Amino acid sequence: MNKLEELRQLKEQIALGGGQKRIDAQHDKGKLTARERLEILFDEGSFVENDVFVSHRCSNFGMADTKAPGDGVVTGYGTVDGRLVFAYAQDFTVLGGSLGEYHAEKIVKVQEMALKMGAPIVGLNDSGGARIQEGVNALSGFGKIFRNNTISSGVIPQISVIMGPCAGGAVYSPAITDFIFMVDKTSQMFITGPEVIKTVTGEDIPAEQLGGAMTHNSVSGVAHFIGTDDTNTLMQVRELISYMPSNNLETVPAFATNDDPNRMIPEFNEIIPENPNKAYDMYDIITKLADDGKIFDVMPHYAKNMVTCFIRLNGATVGVIANQPKFGAGCLDINASDKAARFIRRCDAFNIPLLTIEDVPGFLPGADQEYGGIIRHGAKMLYAYCEATVPKITMILRKAYGGAYIGMCNKELGADIVMAWPSAQIAVMGASGAANIVFRKDIKSAEDPEAMRQEKIAEYEEKFNNPYRAAEMGYVDDVIEPATARQRIISAFDMLSTKRESLPAKKHGNIPL
Ligand code: HXC
Repeated sequence: MNKLEELRQLKEQIALGGGQKRIDAQHDKGKLTARERLEILFDEGSFVENDVFVSHRCSNFGMADTKAPGDGVVTGYGTVDGRLVFAYAQDFTVLGGSLGEYHAEKIVKVQEMALKMGAPIVGLNDSGGARIQEGVNALSGFGKIFRNNTISSGVIPQISVIMGPCAGGAVYSPAITDFIFMVDKTSQMFITGPEVIKTVTGEDIPAEQLGGAMTHNSVSGVAHFIGTDDTNTLMQVRELISYMPSNNLETVPAFATNDDPNRMIPEFNEIIPENPNKAYDMYDIITKLADDGKIFDVMPHYAKNMVTCFIRLNGATVGVIANQPKFGAGCLDINASDKAARFIRRCDAFNIPLLTIEDVPGFLPGADQEYGGIIRHGAKMLYAYCEATVPKITMILRKAYGGAYIGMCNKELGADIVMAWPSAQIAVMGASGAANIVFRKDIKSAEDPEAMRQEKIAEYEEKFNNPYRAAEMGYVDDVIEPATARQRIISAFDMLSTKRESLPAKKHGNIPL
């Protein structure tokens, strides 16, 4: 056999991973193979595989005779929409995608290349976890990966995609990265699986319910996106990358748009209901503001009282944090605070300007919130806003009450521009609650207490249920006609595009975790 023929045959063999039978089994489960997934993730024909010939050097438990093409992971680089991206994809057909010493070394190598080159890295996880036969060498490999994840955090975007099992300590690499995608029905994440749980606690819980995609998207908040199948999930990953810069030194990618930056939105003049207790859908506001009505929602199934999403304004990425009056009146609670805080920090790390859209009646009252540490969790959000040096615009649509008014990035938390709509109400609390407290004695001693109560509510409303007191004192830069919102926001972000702000030098801050 000539040398070229030998090379071709070797590569063909390796490309088959664990062999046709195991590939068929993977397909039967509704899953694609590692290489098929990479073909979808990257621009056609752009993926270049690295370390193709690497294999294990383990001789325990019959491993000396076990072939492990690529040591169960495919690593390399390619382009996504023409931009350099690194990736690794665990190959379940080879020893269940389990992570041995060299499998880990391949991932570590590609992580280090991504960091050096300043390009995003995507990890496709489909693995039985630490390779049992390799003992501590496998555990050591995980440790190296976690450390690289942490060192790269805030420097390059790191995206994890769970496309099969991801169990035990293996979950911590995705958990450290910026975004986690899961595939519905075919992916699971858990620290301890159903068998162990049953043995230890007696609980009987199916794997999907314990750690399936919807569980982590809607209940635990561990995952941020869900895809219907491998292809749909990977297409979402490509879309997410289009919103992100390649690293922390780059500005956000800009796309040409035909959507007029000066487009008026007349519907906005009527969109806020007269009755302050009536809900409306915050997504209507965000989609109308965004270029071509397009939003990329982050954690849409978790803490629905808070919307966090990417949009483009005049072609450039903007991160939106908005209260959702449709869910829990848009109150801030533990989960909403965590969701917003993490989103703000992602945006700030990657130079993505922040647009906060506010209609918040306050923090959610309740013993379970207090016991769960709403003070600590709410503090994360305040901290994240204060620390963020990217351009920050806050637009107040309606309620902006008390601590939540501050928490949703008021002027003092560092908003560069605060705009309010004429329907804005900026006060310590709602008029009814305020009247009951401040005028309690007058109401009690009045001949007609209810009439007096209504009078005091009206008095308080007159004074504070508008944006003008705050605007008189400069807390609000301008009260705008809602129809002009898109034009005003784009023009303000234009003005802020050269913003420079730095914090005092320090090792790192101490965010309340
Ligand atoms: C070695 C493994 C393996 C592992 C699976 N395989 N997991 N080999 N080490 N961890 C092998 C199987 O022996 C099998 O080989 C092949 O991969 C496919 O596995 P199946 O069991 O046939 O597949 P399936 O029925 O789909 O079940 C998948 C699975 C199951 C749920 C992942 O394999 C499983 O429970 N594996 C063990 C998971 C686990 O406990 N891992 C350790 C977690 S602790 P053959 O040759 O028969 O095809 C951990 C610590 C990390 O990871 C700590 C970091 C700090």
